Amino acid sequence: MNGAMAKLDQCLNMDDMRALAKRRAHKMVFDYIDGGADDEWTLKQNSRAFENYSLHYKVLAGVGQPDLTLSLPGAQANVPFILAPSAGNRLFHKAGERAVAKAAQKIGAIYCLSTLSSFSIEAIGQQIATPKWFQLYVWKDRGLVRDMIARAKAAGFSALILTADLPTHGNRERDPKNGFTIPPSMGVRQILEALKRPAWTWDYLTSEPVRFANLMDKGPAQSLAQFVHDQLDQSFTWDDAEFILSEWNGPSYVKGLVRADDGVKAIKSGFEGIFISNHGGRQLDGAPAPIGLVETMRDRLGDDITLIVDGGIRRATDMLKAKALGADAVSFARPYLYGLAAAGEAGVSRALELFYSALLRDMVLLGASSWQGIDGRFVGKKKT
Ligand code: GLV
Repeated sequence: MNGAMAKLDQCLNMDDMRALAKRRAHKMVFDYIDGGADDEWTLKQNSRAFENYSLHYKVLAGVGQPDLTLSLPGAQANVPFILAPSAGNRLFHKAGERAVAKAAQKIGAIYCLSTLSSFSIEAIGQQIATPKWFQLYVWKDRGLVRDMIARAKAAGFSALILTADLPTHGNRERDPKNGFTIPPSMGVRQILEALKRPAWTWDYLTSEPVRFANLMDKGPAQSLAQFVHDQLDQSFTWDDAEFILSEWNGPSYVKGLVRADDGVKAIKSGFEGIFISNHGGRQLDGAPAPIGLVETMRDRLGDDITLIVDGGIRRATDMLKAKALGADAVSFARPYLYGLAAAGEAGVSRALELFYSALLRDMVLLGASSWQGIDGRFVGKKKT
């Protein structure tokens, strides 16, 4: 076993994986994965809020081998966790989205490809069979929106996710402090950092510059904030969302909701599911932690809507809490991105396998024989 694989083997949780990513990746790209908006209050809150809940396990429940399978509009999967869309994965490792998609397929998880991916819709479409979903941002250019939807359909993506919480870019201060652009540009400070990270730097020097592969964009390196400001539509409404749904005409999710009244609008507009999410604390700092919203959302929106929770998930027990509070499935990006930045496909697989084996163990400890069967009787709330 080589040194990198041995280190990966020693990673037992997502904190270990994060530490390994920090050791291999250039500071500016590690901070892009790791950082949040403003004071990063929401980012921290997303994980801390799981501490408000406890797991009330059953004993002598005869669990045997727990059933982790998941059935949602637009996919059947072997595991109840979904790989959330994330931008420009070749920034972190040259294998980028290809590595992430392959690792997701290997474990049987739903994979979501970002509009802002660094391999194209078609490349990933050919790379893996279902389950795969496509995430869309709302471009000012409606022709581009139509075009992306048609391409995702043709490439075999089985559900559309409309990201609704990025009408403009959140204030992520680590990025301008690091002089981070896409593709990364190298001033004196970045070169000095690059010297400390030879494995990442070798990737950078020996592969094509990172671009948003679904766009014809070949312009100069720029900050993501500038790109979003120039290209995305910040006056987008629920009526426009309905236009997108009519173009797609298939299973659909809206991502980035924290309010039950927006959930009501999502149902009225025709979405089958909602990602309760604040974009991993990267957009509006001060937004509430998703895990604290699940119960209210479920109570207000009823049983027919699919609820997916994303934000702060670092342990299988976080997933169990989300399900017990009323979610159908959970989603995350940072854990697999830490794996990718640490060691490419092997790192992503390690992160997913850690979650998978922990889920199997923790369901036995919880006394739950199927993911589907985990309900409110398994969770308690801290008295505040
Ligand atoms: C893109 O979606 C990001 O959060 O950077």
